[in-house]
Amino acid sequence: EKGGFDHFMLKEIYEQPNAIKDTFRGRIRVSEGIVKLAGVEDNLQKFMNADRIIIIACGTSWHAGLVAEYIFEEFARIPVEVEYASEFRYRNPVIRPNDVVIAISQSGETADTLAAIKLAKERGAFVFGVCNVVGSSISRETHSGAYTHAGPEIGVASTKAFTTQITLLTLMALRISRAKGAMPRADYFRYLQELEMIPEKVEQALQTNLEVQTIASIYKDAPNCLYLGRGYNFPVALEGALKLKEISYIHAEGYPAAEMKHGPIALIDERMPVVVIAPKQEHYDKIVSNIQEIKSRSGKIIAIVTKGDTQVKALADHVIEIPETSDALSPLLTTIPLQLLSYHIAVMRNCNVDQPRNLAKSVTVE
Ligand code: F6R
Repeated sequence: EKGGFDHFMLKEIYEQPNAIKDTFRGRIRVSEGIVKLAGVEDNLQKFMNADRIIIIACGTSWHAGLVAEYIFEEFARIPVEVEYASEFRYRNPVIRPNDVVIAISQSGETADTLAAIKLAKERGAFVFGVCNVVGSSISRETHSGAYTHAGPEIGVASTKAFTTQITLLTLMALRISRAKGAMPRADYFRYLQELEMIPEKVEQALQTNLEVQTIASIYKDAPNCLYLGRGYNFPVALEGALKLKEISYIHAEGYPAAEMKHGPIALIDERMPVVVIAPKQEHYDKIVSNIQEIKSRSGKIIAIVTKGDTQVKALADHVIEIPETSDALSPLLTTIPLQLLSYHIAVMRNCNVDQPRNLAKSVTVE
């Protein structure tokens, strides 16, 4: 059942190239520039006329929502707000007629997300679901939706659900962008081509496994760990930290790299490992200077970089190379070594990887 892997989590990490392919199977025709998602097609006017998109989710799905915020704003030029379902539902949220709500949930059973959907519907919003489990409560409660088609995710720590959610949300953003004419045609085609190459590049990112395992053995006893990223990779920093916390029981925090100087930098000393997500992207020079700030305070740097990088390599204690892609798609690659890092550390600490203490696969309590 684990297909030769020691744990479901590792199996699911390795399934990602195929899971992502399954997410776009039958939905894209790259040479013709076609993206087709039935749920989006049926409601295209609603998306095109949206004054705002409100994304509601919890945990890792909320992190996918944050990545989608950057993507929707860039591709479709629609303002996006990303809300924890639990916070959204218990306040008195302002919902306007042209707001579109997107609910993201792997299980489709998360109680807070379900309740937030009901509230949004009561207030007249159109609610679109992004779920993995077919026929789940959330898929039934939403007006329309699209499945990620990641296949069953058994490990409690979410891995392939996250990357397939981002893939699906990227397809949605591309479709809506095209309908609105929000990005130049050439860029649209380039993103589609890049997206089609992602499974192959995820495969390459998985080949960092042994290097990541070595790094894991060096830091497995660290009591704390920081994760930093900027732009599209800020949510990846949050997700990397969540993975480490939940399966290794190491205290970890994700931060936007530029926020370091507003407080967290006080934590840095020679015992603090800092994972920096630093692919070659916009504001690369800024992240290089963030790394310098940490090095000058003796922090240990584990950097995720683009193949061929030299500047970060010269500064970092360890680098993990991933293939090059466009900024917007980079989270699909930078996430991979972070999943592996938390996995190996958890195994080395004898933690129950697939069933971490105090956690359940679907959180049906409020
Ligand atoms: C973390 C994790 C949780 C879930 C969260 C939402 O690895 O699995 O944070 O992401 O409980 O679950 P879904 O997506 O099923 O609504």
